[in-house]
Amino acid sequence: MPISKIRPIRSYVLRQGRLTKHQAEGIKSLSPLHAISFGDNILNWDAIFNRQGKRIIEIGFGMGHTTAEIAETLSDSNFIAIDVHSPGVGNLLNKIQEKNLKNLKIIQHDAVEVLEKMTLDESIDAIHIFFPDPWHKKRHNKRRLIQQTFLELISMKLKKEGYIHIATDWEDYANWIIEIFKNNSMYKAKNIDFSKKPSYRPKTKYENRGVNLGHQVWDMIFIKS
Ligand SMILES: C[S@@+](CC[C@H](N)C(=O)[O-])C[C@H]1O[C@@H](n2cnc3c(N)ncnc32)[C@H](O)[C@@H]1O
Repeated sequence: MPISKIRPIRSYVLRQGRLTKHQAEGIKSLSPLHAISFGDNILNWDAIFNRQGKRIIEIGFGMGHTTAEIAETLSDSNFIAIDVHSPGVGNLLNKIQEKNLKNLKIIQHDAVEVLEKMTLDESIDAIHIFFPDPWHKKRHNKRRLIQQTFLELISMKLKKEGYIHIATDWEDYANWIIEIFKNNSMYKAKNIDFSKKPSYRPKTKYENRGVNLGHQVWDMIFIKS
């Protein structure tokens, strides 16, 4: 098969779902204000936000409720939130406008490519990943976002002492993540108690679903040395 026909393994499935009228209107009228197009250009954070501040990327914001709340709480930090699904993009664009958030922008694209193509090395203070798709069947494990290669990518992009915060309600995925980070000498775990949620993270939509099913939640924070 020619190389161009080989599809990369993606950590998401692109089901766009139906957009509500409000979400569609949000995409149409608010994208020019709060969204950044994917491209080959390196992101100039200070110019995008018109100020300096900690640079935090959230990967997989879903409907964006948590994202907007965190941006409101950590108002001195600048956020770029990335997801592929249009209903969530529409929802979060409307939230940014309603809450008048000046420190949050959206990119609708695969976050791995945003990191690879649009992100300067050693430029990011933190990466948030809340409830990444667990891909719980063993034969699908290769689709998990957090892999050794992903760790190598974020190691290039995070600043020294930058952190990555991952939350999941899948015990198997939590163990997998802890193991991957343990095998990389660049990282040390910040929280030894992996079930303790930092105060800045509100509960997410997926988390509530998991908790209602009786799942435990793991919050894992690793610092790059
Ligand atoms: C299980 S949902 C969790 C959403 C949200 N964080 C929450 O807790 O409610 C995972 C999200 O990650 C997104 N996602 C997975 N891989 C991604 C990638 N490589 N780039 C961007 N978004 C991704 C999916 O589209 C999905 O919206």
